Formats: sequence, structure tokens, C-alpha cells
Amino acid sequence: MKRILIVLIASTLFLQCTYNKKPVGLIVDKAMVVSAREEASTIGIDILKKGGNAFDAMVATEFALAVSYQFAGNLGGGGFMVYRTNKGESGALDFREKAPMSASRDMYLDSLGNAISDKSKKGALAIGIPGTVAGLFATHKKLGTMPIADLIQPSIDLAKKGIIVTEKQAKRLAKYQAEFREVNGKDIVLSLEYKVGDTIKFLQLAKTLERLSNVGVDDFYKGETANILVRELNKRGGNMTLEDLNRYEAKWRKPITFKYKDLEIISMTLPSSGGICLAQILKSIEPYQAKELKHNSTKYIQLLTEAERRSYADRAHYLGDIDFVNTPIDSLTDDAYITQRMGSFDWNKATKSSDISHGKLNGYESNETTHYSIVDSFGNAVSVTTTLNGGFGSKVFIDELGFFLNNEMDDFSVKLGTPNMFGLVGAEANSIRPEKRMLSSMTPTIVTENGKLKMVVGSPGGSTIITSVLQTILNITEFDMGMQEAVAEPRFHHQWLPDVVKMEPNGFDKETIQALKDLGYTIDISNSIVIGKVNAILVLENGQLEGGADPRGDETAVGY
Ligand code: GLY
Repeated sequence: MKRILIVLIASTLFLQCTYNKKPVGLIVDKAMVVSAREEASTIGIDILKKGGNAFDAMVATEFALAVSYQFAGNLGGGGFMVYRTNKGESGALDFREKAPMSASRDMYLDSLGNAISDKSKKGALAIGIPGTVAGLFATHKKLGTMPIADLIQPSIDLAKKGIIVTEKQAKRLAKYQAEFREVNGKDIVLSLEYKVGDTIKFLQLAKTLERLSNVGVDDFYKGETANILVRELNKRGGNMTLEDLNRYEAKWRKPITFKYKDLEIISMTLPSSGGICLAQILKSIEPYQAKELKHNSTKYIQLLTEAERRSYADRAHYLGDIDFVNTPIDSLTDDAYITQRMGSFDWNKATKSSDISHGKLNGYESNETTHYSIVDSFGNAVSVTTTLNGGFGSKVFIDELGFFLNNEMDDFSVKLGTPNMFGLVGAEANSIRPEKRMLSSMTPTIVTENGKLKMVVGSPGGSTIITSVLQTILNITEFDMGMQEAVAEPRFHHQWLPDVVKMEPNGFDKETIQALKDLGYTIDISNSIVIGKVNAILVLENGQLEGGADPRGDETAVGY
């Protein structure tokens, strides 16, 4: 009996220790890739081991995600890349989709001016001109070192060999099967029934990748792939033309850079709102000493919520494609403006979103985006977020090419003032125009301290991307967490409209939630199962790298 008691006490203590133990990510000396699939992270790291740099690894990882993570990894979508070289030079690449030339402001409205449900979300008319392939080739041309064929070959091999279905993937595929059939009018490779452990081969996609490897970027925008794409989309009522594809180009942009305390933050500029909103929110909370508030306490949630509310109100009014809209970025991130915006913040009660409009200046995606972070042994860092918008985008799958097309047109303000699929409302700045890029929330970010690389971070999550990146940075800098711990912590989100604080279930105690309700906050804990899936890398004080691979998905860190 005594022995049983001792064993029981020892097991309880052991379980408690295990339970209380902080999660620690993979720690390596030299280089790391953290992405949504183990196969993609491994392919990226193999390129680094062969002497490629972070940009080579980016190209290889993205092609591998297009095979292994078709939920969001893609050839038929777009994204953004922020980088910092080992010499301290930073830059950003915009390979966001854009509207076809035939697009028009009211193309998703009926004769009464009402938004036609699903037209901007599903099917051939929801598709923006894809940018990912242009982005990868542009990155390779400017910053890569290995032959492009060597970067694509591992993904051709993977597509032929097949990927192994994970538990989360099996559930996801089951969820989307009916929509795949509805949109495509027949079964496609991913609408067949798959169990955990099954192998799925993508032979058509392998052929498309082989053509890209042999012919180059022109295959996608001018050649055989372009012709098949336009022919097949036209059959399905789409509006993409060969000229649309010919005219597409990825654009190098100047990233948003700003200081938060001792940190320098480099993030994405328009047409993503990510960097501007991240700057606004961090600057709004800087005077309040977040460190002294308990992590995820009522006051901490209140402070971030009020800063987010004001920033997302500005986002809805002012932000759109910088090539079309004259956006006052400097004014929106100006210290005096931010102080004035936070002037109405009151610790004793929630501000109502109906009382907050965009500020007067002097002068929601989904979780179906994906992010990966890379650091190479030379000290280059790359932060990339790419997307099809919704899960599997428009659900339009071209058999002959083997890939899905995005539904990025829904990121425009389809009807001014009416929420999109993330509940985000927009104004004229983000209205549809031919060849305009739709506003994004993607926030690929790099953080430095005293001129040295500190963190590479980013997330999927539609409108929640910005707040997921924000909380991860604060977890590290204000609450001294490690990378894996920072990524795994429960998150919350507010985006001005709807006037609700979304919180991850099981992450917050009842007292905190009740105190927020008492202050006038509306809490939604039921519909927000997952907020973001952050993949990040932290440079530790001894120079080693710690990976943060979000346990909310199949995310995996691989390094050496
Ligand atoms: N499609 C989600 C975003 O770009 O924010």
C-alpha cells in the first residue's frame, strides 16, 4: 500500500512538472526553416546544407508548400516577402495578386446594389491574377545563388513520390470535399477519401513544376501553363486573359521600418496593411509599460484591444494599394497622431467601436494563409507569408495543371462598408479597380536589436495575422518567453468591427473574461478556435536559433 502511495505521489509530481514545463522549440547552431509542413521545412534546410542561401531556401520551400500544403501553399495565389541580409540591408517583395483588367468596382453587386453572396469567394470570378511564381523567380534573380532547377527539383520529386496525410490534414480534406465537387463539378485529386497515413501523389502538378523548371517564369505568364489556365478558367465563366497574365509583375517595395523601445521592426508595406497596423498598435501601447501588466490579464487584453480597435478603424478607411491610393503612411504612424488617437482610452470602460471612426489626419482571410521563416548560416533572414485567401482559395482546381486558384478578389471592399469573409469592412481606398492589388493583412516581419538579427516572425489568419504577430513579439520582448512558448501562448484579437474581442477557447480564465465583460467588452470565445499559426525563429543570446512552430497546425522547425 505504502509503495503504491509513493508511486502515486511521484507520478503526480512528475506530471505536474511536465505540465508546468515551458515549451522549448528546436534549438540549432546554424540555420533553420519553420513552415507549415515538415516536408517543406526539410526541403528548405537541405538547400541550405548544400550551400544555398536563405533566398534559395525560400524558393525551394514555397514550391514544396505548393505540393505538400495545398490548403494555402500555392502556385495560384500570392504573398509578400520581407528580408534582411547579413550586411543589414532590408527589402520587401510584393507578389500579391491583382484584379484582372476587366474587373470593375461593382462587379460583385446585383442590380439592387447588394453583394452577391459567394461570387467574390468561390468559383472562377473570385480569382485574382496569381503572383507567387513571379515572386519566386524575382527573388531568385535578385538574391538567389543556386540554379533554379535545383530549387524546384525536390518539389517535383515530392509531387511524384507523394505526401503522407496527417491527422489535421485528413480532417481538413473531409471538411472541404463537398465544396471541391460543387465548384469543380466532379471529383478532383483532393476530393477523394483519405485517411491518416495515406499517400497522395500529384502527377499533374509535377508536370507543371517540370515545365517551370525547364522554361522558367514565362511558362506561367506567357507559355503553356498560361494558355491552359486561361482556356480552363474561361470555360468556367472566369475573366482572366492572357494579357492579364503577361502584364503581371512582382514589385520590390520599401518595407515599413519603425522602433519599438530598443527594437527595430521591419515589416510589410502596402498593399499589405500588416506593417502599418503593427507600427500603429505597438506605438499606441509603448507608453503604457506592458511589461508591468500580467500577461493575458484583463488590463493587458484591454490595452491591446483599444490600440487594435483604433488601428483597424484607420485600416478600413485609409488603406489600399499604394499604386492607386495616396496613403498617408507617415501621418498614420506619426507619434503625435498615435498619442491623440489613444487620448480617448479609458481603463474604466470599453470604448465603443461606434464612437471610433478613422482618425483625422493633418495632411478578417481566414486562417488559410501560410507563413514560413528562414535564417541561413550566413546570417540572412527571410520572412514570407503567402496565400490563396480562403482554404484552397476559390476551390477552382485545374486538373491539367494540378493546382488551386485563389479567391483573393474577396479582399477588396466588394461593397463599401460591408464586411468581407473576415468581417473586415473597407472603403473607397480598397475598392476594385482593374489591375489594382487588394488590401492584405499579411505581416511578414523581421526584428533586430542593437543592429543584430533577433527574430523572424509571421502568421496566417486573415485579419488576425497582425494581432498574432504583435502578441508573439510582445511575448518575447515584454514577457521574456522563448520562441516556442511565445508561439504557443493563447491569443486574442479585436479589429474595430465587429466590436468583439475574439479569444481562443481554454486560454483565458473565467475571472479575466468576466472582468472584461464588466468593463463593457463583448467577448467571443466560441467562434475563434484558432487565432493565427505563427512560425518564427528567435536568435538566442549565445547566437543559437530557437524555432517556434505553432502547435495549432502541422508546423515544423527543421535546422542544423
Ligand atoms: N488573404 C488574406 C490577407 O491577405 O490578408
